[in-house]
Amino acid sequence: MQIQHNISLQPYNTFGIDVTATSFVSVNNTTELKDVLSAKNYPNKLILGGGSNMLLTKNQDKLVIHINLKGIEIISQDDDFVIVKAQAGENWHQFVLWCMKQDFGGIENLSLIPGNVGTAPIQNIGAYGVELKDSFVSCEGLCLETLETHTFSKSECDFGYRDSIFKQQEKEKYIITNVTFKFTKRNHKLNINYGTISSELESMNITNPTIQDISKAVISIRESKLPNPKDIGNSGSFFKNPVISKEDFNALLLNFPDAPSYSISETEVKVPAGWLIEKAGFKGKRFGDYGVHKNQALVLVNYGQAKGSDILELSKLIQKTVLRLFNIFIEAEVNIL
Ligand code: EPU
Repeated sequence: MQIQHNISLQPYNTFGIDVTATSFVSVNNTTELKDVLSAKNYPNKLILGGGSNMLLTKNQDKLVIHINLKGIEIISQDDDFVIVKAQAGENWHQFVLWCMKQDFGGIENLSLIPGNVGTAPIQNIGAYGVELKDSFVSCEGLCLETLETHTFSKSECDFGYRDSIFKQQEKEKYIITNVTFKFTKRNHKLNINYGTISSELESMNITNPTIQDISKAVISIRESKLPNPKDIGNSGSFFKNPVISKEDFNALLLNFPDAPSYSISETEVKVPAGWLIEKAGFKGKRFGDYGVHKNQALVLVNYGQAKGSDILELSKLIQKTVLRLFNIFIEAEVNIL
């Protein structure tokens, strides 16, 4: 473990923004992590996981700590279920693929989501009708202040849509070092109701899908709609889908009868931000080296040398326009740093 200076963070964020970290260290185990956290000469720290949910708008003068804890371990199992612990630095999609190889069911719908295992609980990653919380058992967090480890149960994490205690009361107080999951070994619970999955399986001529088929279908849908950060820098959905009252939605329908929505409760609906942004005319718009993706308006992209501040300005313009046109505020999902 070695603290390096003036390191480009471009390889460490999926937006591919080229800013510099004054000091940077990659930690491979919890002992190293504790050593670094107790380093008195670096009072301010920035924790870096998979770098898939951040927009870097300036050079970082905090000590950037890259969490590189690796390992996947089976804790216990019976004929039906298996308990698996994965270290925070494991790449999320590689972990999903490992599960598919073992025939462990639960996170197949979450295939190809960028990021690492340790950051997945922070925003309760979700896609195609499944959320991380559905197979989550617990996670260990190292308290930045006391350096003590706390095990967070599922109920303590208080998961919601793109939300958890780690974005609320415990924001920036803990580093998640590992996550424990419960997966099925047989009688897998298949989630194929999310529209595009069933049609994708149909086009693959699959009538009795396995979890591996679902994973392949999700990969294929994501590849067709979402840019691969290796080719075009991006951070997945830049905005959250706004939740509004049914009353407000009915008012919206008067002017926009084709507005889509998902029912959330008796009184609320979620409106796809991608639709609002497309209607506002931003889909596929390119401004120099940055813009809005052509297949999914929720995704802002860096075509090469964009600055984080350019993308931030674009996101504000989109927010302002959507607010003016629909009277709906769309909140950023990505952390702005
Ligand atoms: N839509 C448009 N224009 C667009 C994009 C979407 O009109 O440019 C409409 C679609 O026609 C559809 C609806 O919006 O009626 C929903 O679109 P989609 O199925 O693509 O899902 P989403 O609500 O836009 C969410 C997640 C995605 C996740 C998909 C699939 C959020 C903020 N985003 O997007 O998550 O992959 O559902 O489950 O909830 C991510 O978090 O990075 C991410 C990509």
